[in-house]
Amino acid sequence: MKVILVNGSPHEHGTTWAGLDEIEKTLQAEGIETEVFWIGNKAVGGCVGCGGCEATGRCVFGGVVNEFLDKAEGADGFVFGAPVHYAGPNGNMKSFMDRVFYAGSSSFRLKPGACVAACRRAGVVTTMDDLNKYLTISEMPVVSSTYWNMVFGFTAEEAKQDAEGMRTMRNIGHNMAYLLKCMEAAEKAGVERPAGEPAAWTHFIGNGTVSKR
Ligand SMILES: Cc1cc2nc3c(=O)[nH]c(=O)nc-3n(C[C@H](O)[C@H](O)[C@H](O)COP(=O)(O)O)c2cc1C
Repeated sequence: MKVILVNGSPHEHGTTWAGLDEIEKTLQAEGIETEVFWIGNKAVGGCVGCGGCEATGRCVFGGVVNEFLDKAEGADGFVFGAPVHYAGPNGNMKSFMDRVFYAGSSSFRLKPGACVAACRRAGVVTTMDDLNKYLTISEMPVVSSTYWNMVFGFTAEEAKQDAEGMRTMRNIGHNMAYLLKCMEAAEKAGVERPAGEPAAWTHFIGNGTVSKR
């Protein structure tokens, strides 16, 4: 079983990484394979809603979005981490998440996920809310912890001193490992995954109306 931890910060080893690192170590101690995927510090660019991904499941603009989607198909769980910028996820991470989930949401269905926010002072709860919405529109079981998933600090060193934040991170790791093991056991026991209902795409107009641009 493998979990990918996405670092959405422009800092490869900053505060967000400090939280993800704690989760990663916990997952590894639980026998789960891990990989950290850093989205980098180059401009990611947002989704333009062209619909080009519908046929391929990949974004027409490529880059880190498609690199990640290629890896996501084979992973069993995900942690998405972002620093707080103006009380929301940083712009690069927001663009990354829009394009990843618009192009490849099927890669996440029924796979456990958690979101982590890192900040100096305030805005982590709104950031976590924002990130969690990608998970809950994609049928991902959301892994929770003993506090909302946040770490405080301006540097990784400071964040590692956030004892409650680090405990929260470790409990995300323990809870995700437990859920993954439960799902594996359920599959072995023959519990079937829900097939899902056919799409209804109505724009609040009519009943089952499907319109394309
Ligand atoms: C553009 C920008 C906006 C920020 N907005 C906030 C904010 O709203 N609240 C806050 O506590 N920190 C804010 N910060 C500080 C970062 O959240 C903080 O430095 C965090 O530790 C960075 O994490 P990182 O090292 O993983 O990038 C902001 C930083 C930048 C660059």
